Amino acid sequence: MPHTSPPKTYRVKSFGCQMNVYDGERMAESLAARGIAPAAEGEDADLVVLNTCHIREKAAEKVYSDIGRLVKAGDAAGKKPLIAVAGCVAQAEGEEIMARAPAVSMVVGPQAYHRLPEMLDKAVAGERATDTDMPPIAKFDALPARRRTGATAFLTIQEGCDKFCTYCVVPYTRGAEISRPFKDLIAEAQKLIEAGAREITLLGQNVNAWTGEDDKGRAIGMDGLVRALAALPDLQRIRYTTSHPNDVTDGMIAMHGEVDKLMPYLHLPVQSGNDRVLKAMNRSHTVESYLRVLERFREARPDIALSGDFIVGFPGESEAEFADTLKLVDEVRYAQAFSFKYSPRPGTPAATMEGQIAKEVMEDRLARLQDALNRDQLAFNAASVGKSCTVLVERKGKHPGQWLGKSPWLQSVWFEGDVGIGDLVHVELVEAGPNSLAGKVLEHVAG
Ligand code: SAH
Ligand code: SF4
Ligand code: F3S
Repeated sequence: MPHTSPPKTYRVKSFGCQMNVYDGERMAESLAARGIAPAAEGEDADLVVLNTCHIREKAAEKVYSDIGRLVKAGDAAGKKPLIAVAGCVAQAEGEEIMARAPAVSMVVGPQAYHRLPEMLDKAVAGERATDTDMPPIAKFDALPARRRTGATAFLTIQEGCDKFCTYCVVPYTRGAEISRPFKDLIAEAQKLIEAGAREITLLGQNVNAWTGEDDKGRAIGMDGLVRALAALPDLQRIRYTTSHPNDVTDGMIAMHGEVDKLMPYLHLPVQSGNDRVLKAMNRSHTVESYLRVLERFREARPDIALSGDFIVGFPGESEAEFADTLKLVDEVRYAQAFSFKYSPRPGTPAATMEGQIAKEVMEDRLARLQDALNRDQLAFNAASVGKSCTVLVERKGKHPGQWLGKSPWLQSVWFEGDVGIGDLVHVELVEAGPNSLAGKVLEHVAG
């Protein structure tokens, strides 16, 4: 590839989970630290980072079609952009991408993206480079300090997964479970708060598997970290995601009854309401043990909003086994949930299991499950009408004077008022829809 001039502008496009978004922000910061500016909305960037996700189907296809589009736009403008493929597809299919897409000059995995600036120097010199090494922690030490954020910010505290659910690529794309050190997390949280964050969401593939040592050298779990963060002035709210049922501790349940800044919301994926299916998925929890855990959270924090993830059509799932998932949903009454058709992922044990389910059957099951989940979400929102709660202002709405923020239960709330981004206001919830509520400002709490 010929020598190109160094890029002046960049764009990072993130396609995956919240951690993928966090990684995208960190890549953007490392490019900005090199003096490269974010491309303006609607303008072509000199460098495009496709930050991919591999969790379900069509991820790779999407990357190739995006690359195709960028090449076409580049040809039309007479200026080819430098293209980097990052994220979990890069980790899983890096070599194939390099072979199939000559327009790509950098492939960088989720544990190696701190090396993006060096790779960029090579790319400018006309060299293509792939880095899918997995050195734990190294990237966090090598990235520049955090400087930019909105009212809400993500903070990765734990990464990787040792659970090996039989359908899932994450243990292969993110590597083994690691916890970032306590002092690094407090320092990053402080930087985010200085930059304007009022809410921090702690992230991990199994966030509640986090362990560390506090500043006095005592062994602590995620609850100890949450309590330490809650002591930071100017931080108003703490959330965390995603938890695994098997990593729930007594301390984690107790913190929901005791830490005011911790929001009453729990995302605890279950995947299926049938024990045979759970076993085939290698989830290592049962329906009963999962329900017992939820009950204990509800005892500690009666208004806690519950959320989950579901997969329909796992190989061998019978109609009766699927009906058990509907039964579980009826019992729990989730405030919000995510549900997916099973997608065979290359290299995972479930992909070659017998009894793969037909597409139409999966679609029918997904539609029935989503009907039930939507019903419960609307009911949860409707039951919130008349309540007053705090809302953290995140952004302006479409109309003048209109704002959008989140309730403690992660509902989107629209309201009018004389406020600013990052303010915490007391709002009465006056009207509910399936995906958001309307609120009326009662008073300013902070900001
Ligand atoms: N670590 C988290 C979830 C990470 S992936 C946990 O175990 O709870 C996010 C969600 O994607 C999963 O909870 C699951 O519902 C879904 N998912 C993962 N692999 C999938 C696959 N092969 N097909 C369909 N959905 C999948
Ligand atoms: Fe995937 Fe299971 Fe690990 Fe979650 S716990 S990331 S679903 S392997
Ligand atoms: Fe996707 Fe990787 Fe996240 S596969 S869901 S971006 S961990």
